[in-house]
Amino acid sequence: MTKPIILTGDRPTGKLHIGHYVGSLENRVKLQNTGKYDPYIMIADMQALTDNARDPEKIRQSLFQVALDYLAVGIDPKKSTIFVQSQIPALNELTMIYMNLVSVARLERNPTVKHEIQQKSFKESVPVGFLTYPVSQAADITAFKATVVPVGDDQEPMLEQTREIVRSFNRAYHTDVLVEPEGYFPPKGEGRIPGLDGNAKMSKSLNNAIYLSDSADEIQKKVMSMYTDPNHVHVEDPGQVEGNPVFTYLDIFAPDQQHVAELKEQYAHGGLGDVKIKRYLNEVLQAVLEPIRTRREQYAQDPAQVAAILQAGSQKANQVAEQTLDEVRNAMGINYFA
Ligand code: TRP
Repeated sequence: MTKPIILTGDRPTGKLHIGHYVGSLENRVKLQNTGKYDPYIMIADMQALTDNARDPEKIRQSLFQVALDYLAVGIDPKKSTIFVQSQIPALNELTMIYMNLVSVARLERNPTVKHEIQQKSFKESVPVGFLTYPVSQAADITAFKATVVPVGDDQEPMLEQTREIVRSFNRAYHTDVLVEPEGYFPPKGEGRIPGLDGNAKMSKSLNNAIYLSDSADEIQKKVMSMYTDPNHVHVEDPGQVEGNPVFTYLDIFAPDQQHVAELKEQYAHGGLGDVKIKRYLNEVLQAVLEPIRTRREQYAQDPAQVAAILQAGSQKANQVAEQTLDEVRNAMGINYFA
């Protein structure tokens, strides 16, 4: 019996942070460890280049950092195939083929891409590669015939786009070669972690993130200077729990939720200082991140081993993607000399 295939990945534009962890890394490790799936985890360097074409060095360096982050959180190369997108030529060919099945207007309607275009202030000069990355993402997913795609909520439009391409392709070429994927999202309300500054999103560009690679010292400094309720000036003042990122983090990471409930009550009532809850949050986060950081440091000392893992994974992924490309060409009747 073949197992359902998982495909997911990240753009290597920097080290991964605890937002990535709760948004999708944790899910991937859980799914991997059930033993019920055949997981492929991709470092999407080609997709990262769609808005970093002039800075390949950043992508190159981040690629290694992301690989370390994966291994650190427990993605196990014996159970999951970790590979590098740019090393799989078939993905580019599939992208070209799919592009003819998608309209420009459809791409311009993608809410995640729309939002990113605003954020990145491309203005009038949106790269063609950026606008079309959802098509390339459909190639990533379909090349492996993945049915399960563990991602953050912002990736739903990519899955919808992929399903549309699968249906168009199979209909146009009277085939069932391509398979429709389903997203696998974090439980409602748990997938998104606000920034240290209270911003809705944790991100490198906002400089409000805790990284999986942060030292114990860095974590403590970041936690102690977190945004809380600005009107909670004196310890005895009643404080605002809702929208207070310290409590949001505790909701997600604290092992003792009964204790968190008590702290919230005390905070709202007055008499609980910010320093005290931050100290508790610091303890909680240190306990979660310490084993991750230790494993990360071990792998970082052996870059040759990490490279070998990526190379072996890419070789295996390449075979699978080539096989699908072959089936796609056959379905279209463009395998002229086979
Ligand atoms: N777009 C994803 C992100 O920004 C990364 C990605 C590329 C991906 N290809 C994928 C995710 C295929 C899932 C499946 O995080």
